[in-house]
Amino acid sequence: MEKFVIEGGYKLEGEIEISGSKNASLPIIAASIMSEEKTILKHVPNLTTFPTMIKILNYMGVKTKFEDNTLEIDPSGIYQFTAPYEFVSTMRGSICLLGPLLAKYGKARFSMPGGCVIGPRPIDLHIKGLKKLGVLIENEEGYIIGKVDKLKGNNIFIGGSFGSSVLATANVLCAAVLAEGETIIEYAACEPEIVDLANFLKKMGAKIYGEGSHLIRVEGVKKLKGVEYTIIPDRIEGGTYILAGYITRSRIKVNNIIPSHLFALFDKLEEAGLDIKYGENYFETIPKETWKAVEVTTLPFPGFPTDLQAQMMSFLTLSDGISLITEKVFPERFIHVGELNRLGADITLDGSKAIIKGVKSLKGAKVMASDLRASAALVLAGLTAEGITEISRIYHLDRGYEKFEKKLSSIGAKIKRIKEES
Ligand code: EPZ
Repeated sequence: MEKFVIEGGYKLEGEIEISGSKNASLPIIAASIMSEEKTILKHVPNLTTFPTMIKILNYMGVKTKFEDNTLEIDPSGIYQFTAPYEFVSTMRGSICLLGPLLAKYGKARFSMPGGCVIGPRPIDLHIKGLKKLGVLIENEEGYIIGKVDKLKGNNIFIGGSFGSSVLATANVLCAAVLAEGETIIEYAACEPEIVDLANFLKKMGAKIYGEGSHLIRVEGVKKLKGVEYTIIPDRIEGGTYILAGYITRSRIKVNNIIPSHLFALFDKLEEAGLDIKYGENYFETIPKETWKAVEVTTLPFPGFPTDLQAQMMSFLTLSDGISLITEKVFPERFIHVGELNRLGADITLDGSKAIIKGVKSLKGAKVMASDLRASAALVLAGLTAEGITEISRIYHLDRGYEKFEKKLSSIGAKIKRIKEES
């Protein structure tokens, strides 16, 4: 295994380029099997997330080629429709293959994805939506077996007790695209990744209206064609680097972002007393020595993203007051709290709320990565902590951040990736 060794306290300077979105790529790669023809996806980030997704596709008979952030997908040879446990258990995002498989082939045998450190990851809304489109779904030895002769359009409400669901919306949207007749998806997720998926499907020939709102209308079509498509930038990677700039009190330029994807973050940074400066496709951090404590509640888009909660918490450990973070999407998503406290933060938990008392500075220590975004939070803390911070199990990071330490080193961070003594 590998670890990061970070020498904290250095100012950053320069420009960073944001890669393509992990969470837009996954449902779009899945949706590409809904055509008979080859699809070419550009700006796909080179993450360890994708080899597993590609393994599942190859296992089904889909031919793929991935180089220089371009992924070619040729689904013409698909001959089986099972996603085995050994693959799905390591990459629960592969559940977004369920809708496309049922839409195009009328069958799917899918291992139930397990939970993960951020909480139980139920799929009841996925199942509810697919059943409303006529899919017969059974459970067998931890596998979901889905069958349908002809998907029929319907009115579907897929809001859950935590609001909308991103991948449930993706699955139902994909299935609706090739269903007979019209489908109304009520309480659909509004995330930019869903809009990107809809744009991709429309380029393939789908008839979709209202994406980006809670009500999406779909008119079913018979066929979809293979296309060339460029994935949107990763808003969570962008927000992570913006917070890296602020937490190290540095002036950096984060390029290739879509500002409207990060307005909730900008709003909180402004409330903390920071000057916000961005242009059409970049953000510039203007450093301040201190910042105010704020209250943050994570919500589905356009609310504050749960995927930036841990990184925001790192930033708030140094505020000049007492901040409160309420996690309303994944109420247990606080695995980073213990590790941040090891670095000298002063955070206490009360159910789905974290109370963060600002401290003067953090002190380097050995910590352990555990979840993708929690690990990013530890890197941000390490960049500002006095002395050396060692972060073990950084394979978690490689799932969601392309060239993380290379991008940070290119703007002056003292961060090295080294093999851990076994
Ligand atoms: C997507 O996961 C993202 N993953 C997550 O990013 C992100 O945190 C999440 O959306 C919320 O924005 C990908 O896109 C691959 P949800 P998803 O269904 O779709 C509950 C990262 O770090 N729910 O929107 O699985 C669920 O438990 C990852 O990049 C049900 O109750 O999340 C949660 O409380 C982590 N029933 C809430 O909805 C369901 O059937 C939102 O989850 C489905 C979800």
